[in-house]
Amino acid sequence: MSDNHDTLYHSNGEAEMEGAHDPSTDEETILTDEEYGSPESSLEEVQDEEIADYFLEINGRLYASHGGAPYPLPVDTPENDRTKANHTILKRLIGANHRGPVTAVLAVNVDRQPRVLDLCCGVGTWVKDMSADFPHAQIIGVDIVPLATRYPPTNVQFEILDVNSPLRWTDGYFDLIHSRDVILSVCDYGALVNEAARTLRLGGLFLSVEWSNHISLHPSIPGDVETHAPASTHFYDTVNHNLATLGVNPDGFAAFNLIANSPHFTSVTVEQIDVPIGTWHPEEGLRQIGSSFRAAQKRLAHAYKRMLLTAGMSSEAVDTLIDDFVHDLYTTDGLMMTVYLTSAERV
Ligand SMILES: C[S@@+](CC[C@H](N)C(=O)[O-])C[C@H]1O[C@@H](n2cnc3c(N)ncnc32)[C@H](O)[C@@H]1O
Repeated sequence: MSDNHDTLYHSNGEAEMEGAHDPSTDEETILTDEEYGSPESSLEEVQDEEIADYFLEINGRLYASHGGAPYPLPVDTPENDRTKANHTILKRLIGANHRGPVTAVLAVNVDRQPRVLDLCCGVGTWVKDMSADFPHAQIIGVDIVPLATRYPPTNVQFEILDVNSPLRWTDGYFDLIHSRDVILSVCDYGALVNEAARTLRLGGLFLSVEWSNHISLHPSIPGDVETHAPASTHFYDTVNHNLATLGVNPDGFAAFNLIANSPHFTSVTVEQIDVPIGTWHPEEGLRQIGSSFRAAQKRLAHAYKRMLLTAGMSSEAVDTLIDDFVHDLYTTDGLMMTVYLTSAERV
């Protein structure tokens, strides 16, 4: 059991109290019209007055206005802070912005600047970190809404792009494609894997980072998660059921399997990391991570509200589902969620 004041950690080292909103941390919205990529590039600049068209406000939250994409979560500041917190958590856990032979794949090449694509980049936290780690590489972040800064580092470009459509680049264009926390955005993950394979050069690298679709219990705790935290099981069962009706499979392990079974990739490795939820872990570093991740899970639960209401649940039923889930998070030791880090080489 612990207090109710978890913090969401940002990658710049700042921490924000759960629920609070500091407008000074908001990112500007962008797109540049710099011609880039294949000759048939369709990149166009988004004008200031067009930015609002990408967003839809419903019950005080902002969503992507693109009607054809299944993504159920908001794309506003509280949600962006959640994804930034998850970025920091992963970075702390793995001690870097990536796993796999990234440094070798992005080695300085006198003939050609290495090229990196980040799918569903959000506010571009990973892109900006990678642009500092690999200043000689060109890094492109794409998202369905303009969330990232308008003034990126010189080796970075942000674009609007729907990952459910064919990517606009020619075959073999990229050295590295990174895809993190995208499964809720994708109608057909296998098709995305095929597009990644098409646009990667031979020997290029596909990195996928996806979360499990349920909460689990640390093996040191006797019993099972359904008994210890029944509301968390019920919450994720309900969410997963509704995501399935949107055509989304939120299972990170299934995403790994699609990559592992693709004929276009070899040397496929997956690292499974169990991320603690809450402050039960004996190690101080993991307690801090667990505190931040619990705040992020609480925020995620509220972010699913619109999807659950749209599915026909009453407002009272949704509030109870979320409140009971959050109660589990704050009263149960040993809770955790698995994240799958997959690395695959294009053949
Ligand atoms: C959970 S966030 C992950 C952000 C980022 N990858 C990260 O790990 O911090 C999912 C992102 O996918 C974007 N998205 C949703 N549907 C999309 C689509 N069809 N094409 C491109 N991006 C999409 C959302 O706008 C959001 O920024």
